[in-house]
Amino acid sequence: MSDESGQCKAISWDGSAVVTCGVGLGGLRMFDSRWIWCAAVLIFPELASPAAQPHVLVADSGRVQEHLAELAHFGTNPEGGVSRVAFSDADVAGRAYVKRLMEAAGLEVRIDTAGNLIGRREGADRKLPTIVVGSHTDSVPHGGNFDGDVGVMGGIEVAQQLRDRHVSLRHALEVVDFTDEEGGLVGSRAMAGDLSAATLDLVNSSGRSVRDGIRALGGNPDAVGQAQRSPGELAAYLELHIEQGGTLERTHTDIGVVQGIVGIHWWEATVTGIANHAGTTPMDQRHDALLAASELVLAVNAAATEFPGRQVATVGRVQAEPGAPNVIPGRVVLSVEIRDLDAARIEAVFERIRVHARAIADARGTSIEFRDLEATAAPALTDPRIQRIIDAAAHGLGLTTVAMPSGAGHDAQDIARIAPIGMIFVPSVGGISHSPREYTEPADIAHGVNVLMRAVLAIDAGKLDR
Ligand code: GLV
Ligand code: MN
Ligand code: MN
Repeated sequence: MSDESGQCKAISWDGSAVVTCGVGLGGLRMFDSRWIWCAAVLIFPELASPAAQPHVLVADSGRVQEHLAELAHFGTNPEGGVSRVAFSDADVAGRAYVKRLMEAAGLEVRIDTAGNLIGRREGADRKLPTIVVGSHTDSVPHGGNFDGDVGVMGGIEVAQQLRDRHVSLRHALEVVDFTDEEGGLVGSRAMAGDLSAATLDLVNSSGRSVRDGIRALGGNPDAVGQAQRSPGELAAYLELHIEQGGTLERTHTDIGVVQGIVGIHWWEATVTGIANHAGTTPMDQRHDALLAASELVLAVNAAATEFPGRQVATVGRVQAEPGAPNVIPGRVVLSVEIRDLDAARIEAVFERIRVHARAIADARGTSIEFRDLEATAAPALTDPRIQRIIDAAAHGLGLTTVAMPSGAGHDAQDIARIAPIGMIFVPSVGGISHSPREYTEPADIAHGVNVLMRAVLAIDAGKLDR
């Protein structure tokens, strides 16, 4: 490897010294008794690659914790956790803080047209594709301080370590804080070239449309296509994330090596009945939309269990109108979400829901319509070579691993369309996420960052090509 001054720089195996071999007008200069190592590096340059002595790069756990704690101030809630919904003022301010951290880590920062915040450090070989790491810092309403944040802060720590140790990689490295992950993987879909005009019109709980929100983040929704990265441009995408489930904790495992990420499909269901007087309308003459909606909620749950497998289906939002105690609800709008690793199974569960819905609508004298929302993420498998790299990195650090699927959606699943991806999971205490009670131990986060760092170094050293 070489530093910014163009000198050959090798970190000794015990990490105690940097040996500098400058070949210039003065000829070969060697300092102190470690000349043998330096000579070896000149003969076998791969010995000098960061991957050859990765133990000298170790995450500064205190710094990562400090950054997570600072980020937690943006959108903080009295009950703990944050509401840093994408495009909210808290999101805009939080991303300004992330930008400052990226700059401090020596990254050249830009915002693409989709609002993605991208910090880049160039590699020594400009012909090589870029290694990308990242995640998101937007949250669900009343969410926690670890979902997404760990991946962004972990990526920044990798860049900071490389800067502090004056390590130059062969590949360029980018750290990305994606736009609006929680509202439908907006930034990563744009990067994969799959953000539709209909998605730009969706309004999230910040009250802003995706279009206006992207503008608020410094992007340009009218040129969102320019955020697309072409296949071949990215060498790999790595995402460090909390597990958001209880498998790692239950099995006392340090690191989850993700095999695949579930697909997610969202619909909006509208139940239409007849709003009427709650005192004068006899029980047998009602067209109660909320009653039909309640049965639909049960049917969504039942449909997911009518097949063997790990598929899940959820109604997470119900809005009844007009919403008064003395009026029979005339209209209810519900969210319907189905997830599975197999897209065909998602469709099969939805077909079962439709069958149930028809029967409910007939029995209750209402109608039930479904609208397919343009916020669908396809299931994605991680690259088996990257799985092996992550597994080896973890074992090299003395950590235990388990291969597992991800039931949560991640930006990685969109990037999978344009680059090989890998994901590193660290334990979630109590398996809790999307909640202020979400927590991951500092030591577990540090393990994850170290695995991420080693995986980046391994890919930089060409491990993907072998
Ligand atoms: C993202 O957090 C999701 O799985 O909904
Ligand atoms: Mn989430
Ligand atoms: Mn997340």
